[in-house]
Amino acid sequence: MGRTTTEAVLGGVGICLLLAQPLVAEPGRPDHAWQNRDLSPDVRAEMVVRQMTADEKFAWISQLLPVPGAPQAISVPGAAAHYQAIPRLGIPARTETDAGLGVTNRGDVRPGDRTTALPSTLLLGATFDPTLAHQAGAVIGREARARGFNVQLAGGANLIREPRGGRSFEYVSEDPLVTGLIAGQMVAGIQSEGVVSTVKHFAVNAQENGRVMASSDMSEAALRESDLLAFQIAIETGQPGSVMTGYNLLNGVYTSESDFLIDRVLKRDWGYAGWVMSDWGGTHSTERAALAGLDVQSGGMLDAAPFFGRPLQEAVAADRVPQARIDDMVRRILRSMFAVGAIDAGEAPQKAEVDAEAHRLVARKVAENGIVLLKNSDDMLPLKPGAGRILIIGAHADIGVLSGGGSSSVTPPGSLKMTGTSRVGFDIEKAYHPSSPLAAIQSESAGIVTYLDGTDLAAAAAGARDAEAVIVFAEEWRTEVLDATGLALPDHQDALIEAVAAANPRTIVVLETGGPVTMPWLARVPAVLAAWYPGIAGGEAIAGVLFGRVNPSGRLPITFPSDEGDLPRPIQSDPTMLAASPGLEIKGGIVNIPYDIEGSDVGYRWASREGKMPLFRFGHGLSYTRFALSELAIERQAMDLLASLTVTNEGSRPGIDTPQVYVSLPGPEGFAPRLAAFSRVALEPGESRRVSMRIDRRLLARYDTERGGFRVAGGSYLFGAGEDSGPGILRERVTLEAIDLGR
Ligand code: BGC
Repeated sequence: MGRTTTEAVLGGVGICLLLAQPLVAEPGRPDHAWQNRDLSPDVRAEMVVRQMTADEKFAWISQLLPVPGAPQAISVPGAAAHYQAIPRLGIPARTETDAGLGVTNRGDVRPGDRTTALPSTLLLGATFDPTLAHQAGAVIGREARARGFNVQLAGGANLIREPRGGRSFEYVSEDPLVTGLIAGQMVAGIQSEGVVSTVKHFAVNAQENGRVMASSDMSEAALRESDLLAFQIAIETGQPGSVMTGYNLLNGVYTSESDFLIDRVLKRDWGYAGWVMSDWGGTHSTERAALAGLDVQSGGMLDAAPFFGRPLQEAVAADRVPQARIDDMVRRILRSMFAVGAIDAGEAPQKAEVDAEAHRLVARKVAENGIVLLKNSDDMLPLKPGAGRILIIGAHADIGVLSGGGSSSVTPPGSLKMTGTSRVGFDIEKAYHPSSPLAAIQSESAGIVTYLDGTDLAAAAAGARDAEAVIVFAEEWRTEVLDATGLALPDHQDALIEAVAAANPRTIVVLETGGPVTMPWLARVPAVLAAWYPGIAGGEAIAGVLFGRVNPSGRLPITFPSDEGDLPRPIQSDPTMLAASPGLEIKGGIVNIPYDIEGSDVGYRWASREGKMPLFRFGHGLSYTRFALSELAIERQAMDLLASLTVTNEGSRPGIDTPQVYVSLPGPEGFAPRLAAFSRVALEPGESRRVSMRIDRRLLARYDTERGGFRVAGGSYLFGAGEDSGPGILRERVTLEAIDLGR
């Protein structure tokens, strides 16, 4: 291929010229013209599409059989989907696996395989650290590739609208900016290793109870300013090769056939060039879905019909779906795979070595940065090594740390496995990763550490009485398919904590949860840690924070409400009345969930709007040192708006602060916070630093449906900077002129 032609193509012209050339290159050149890596992914994809037969195309847009049906030589153990290679064109198989917390190995399909179990995505959200998200993503990408996969079903970017949601541990936060940046960087990390990542589940797949029959109902403006904005930022940041739709409906239409969502918002307004796949068993039609922009029917064996198989072929033959649409589907897949190098890499090896220890250390680093110190009265923490006997109680802390259940769960060898639930018609495993907090605390404390399982309250209280300190591990397990019932800790753990705290006021609570929980005992314990699901090195990370080897720096990515009554929808959908699994009969009709109650004011914005006082605010998190913020300035630099402030470490330990800048739009009095920018700053004792943060103006805008775009209204904007989403320590008022930002 001549250089001039390549340049012309890369410059956006010349595609016709190029395609007119012979597609199979001359001797001595690569076998196929598309193998020229100087060409753009779009051109290369188009070249391949032109060579594909109809059968080859259809084989890449629907998979009706689970992986075992694929020819043995190319089937990859544990794949969630496998699309055949096209050897005559030199195109490798497309092999997809879950998920966002690591490469799954469900049912031990790869016996003994130690893929890294990263902490929950919610913990990653609590780091407020996009750089760490990129590193975590790279771990997943490397491991996926080394297991023979080239598509990772990761990138959970749903806003957490339902704090009791079964999958909140798979999502980042309740805020569009934090969610978009963290999910986007995780995707970028995965793709940096030559593996395509999705973002999912597009969009407003906010609850698990009845997820296949729940319609998330919300106005377009609210959607654009919240859930869609989170995806938009994630897509801009991470350029995911694929987007997975949800099981749910949006305003009465299944997301997999929502013309609004796929064709209009994603592909047209955002110019998305990748492919859109349905969730497994989440396709419901042929023409409607194909014409709305769905590109792949995933997990078709769970659907009512092979919609993108024979029925789609017939629809094309009868001109009800244009052939161009089929070509577009395949082209989108190929261009995304070209874009990350997944095709150039060829068939992925299935047993390549990775540096497992280095990956475990990334998991530990993420956990150490995402554990949140919620309360620490009288400097109860950090504990001093060798100070006396420590009693540890509960949550199998002698063995490991809890992980979430469902398609995202990674269970390395040595995990403790139990039945989590069978309420959904089949068993879902509840697993504990083999990282014993007891062992880690023993090694940090250099003293006597004992363990009780906490099932006997009287024994726990008696054991607590003469301990120097007691650490109660309280757990709350969540899984895909089922929401948590209420916000309270289950299984009488509140009573256990009360009894232990009454016996020994030096009681520390470590929470291993998939979201917020209520804490009726909070006033009676001096210290509480939110450790979420901390992953394969979680025990060490928790012990490190308890003993001060790690200075905690995590921040709440989600509000901890005081009471369920403070939520926009205090009453949950009844799981016994609703179907949540694809492929099962849906009894009764669609259930409408009214999200216009809070609209775009999710989580902390709702609490602030309604004057609810949370137990712990979004953004909150303590440190063993003290930070001071000063000199907030909001400046315009060309089209950008910059927030700057000075952070000082006034304490005696090195630490990391996360200053946050919120903005209140012109309008009714009172401060109605929207997170506009945040930063992470590592400071030595006594050190000060000036930090600048770029503000994305969409965060200051309302979506104007009539004009069809974001619009910053002219007026006076109040900025507040602080350590959480509260009223702000520093204030700055800025007048902005009206500006249209487009979509
Ligand atoms: C989940 C997806 C997952 C897919 C494939 C579905 O049940 O909702 O997140 O990627 O299964 O395992």
